[in-house]
Amino acid sequence: MFDFKGRVAIVTGGAMGIGEGIARRFAEQGATVVLADVDESKGNEVVRDLARSGGGEPLFVRTDIRDVVQAERLVQTTVAERGRLDVLINNAGVFPVAPAMTTTPELWNRVLEVNLRGPFFLTQAAARQMKSQGTGGSVVNIASIDSLHPTGQLAAYDASKGGLRMLTRSLALELSPLGIRVNAIAPGSIATPGAAAASAGASASDVTKMLEAFTARTPLRRMGEPDDIACAALFLASRAASYVTGVTLVVDGGYLLS
Ligand SMILES: NC(=O)c1ccc[n+]([C@@H]2O[C@H](COP(=O)([O-])OP(=O)(O)OC[C@H]3O[C@@H](n4cnc5c(N)ncnc54)[C@H](O)[C@@H]3O)[C@@H](O)[C@H]2O)c1
Repeated sequence: MFDFKGRVAIVTGGAMGIGEGIARRFAEQGATVVLADVDESKGNEVVRDLARSGGGEPLFVRTDIRDVVQAERLVQTTVAERGRLDVLINNAGVFPVAPAMTTTPELWNRVLEVNLRGPFFLTQAAARQMKSQGTGGSVVNIASIDSLHPTGQLAAYDASKGGLRMLTRSLALELSPLGIRVNAIAPGSIATPGAAAASAGASASDVTKMLEAFTARTPLRRMGEPDDIACAALFLASRAASYVTGVTLVVDGGYLLS
């Protein structure tokens, strides 16, 4: 069920954090992982490490997912170098804290371009390839619990992730005749470099207080780890989920219940 040997998976934003965790899990299950990121040195480092630890023949392709031409080139390079494409994980995302009253048009555009427009056009390019292979495929979008519940001071982010959740449903409906399943994951708070950077301006004691308050409100009493999301992505992309499409799987330790 969870054997990905012979299958090729693109992971965007795979150079660190949740994307890196997803790349590691998929490689462990035998997938050939193609890592796409703007961070060339960290991306290449992860790929070298995966290759050393027996993770098949991973590949890094420098890609800014905001650019439709680069997204198309990512799919073309994947097929030219690794032969096919079976799984697309739309994980790359940005989450700048920005009060609504001072959000600029530039910030709004950047967030929407990375988090929503990029995943749409990359999915379009991937789906064209999957259609031509005639094998179907699986797309997993990394949304957020903010697609269901606003945190505050993240209006552009929340709109982008709410959009990504609905895009998941729209594309699941439209691509199902091609055997392409499209699902999303809504992570809660996950310990990653991006999450740490989001609280970079706060004092150490404020960060500790925020983490304690978060953990106290989380029924499972801990922060999430990238691998918590990786395991959910593995399930959604696997044969075990072959009748699952259009869903958003919440992986938040129960946070939204409280
Ligand atoms: N960490 C959390 O608590 C959390 C919670 C909910 C949802 N998410 C979502 O999970 C995803 C990953 O988050 P993370 O915490 O691992 O972030 P991160 O900042 O630690 O890593 C993000 C990666 O995406 C890459 N990236 C950014 N812009 C890109 C672009 N235009 N093109 C290609 N790559 C780009 C970065 O270089 C980086 O390697 C994001 O979509 C985020 O919104 C994270």
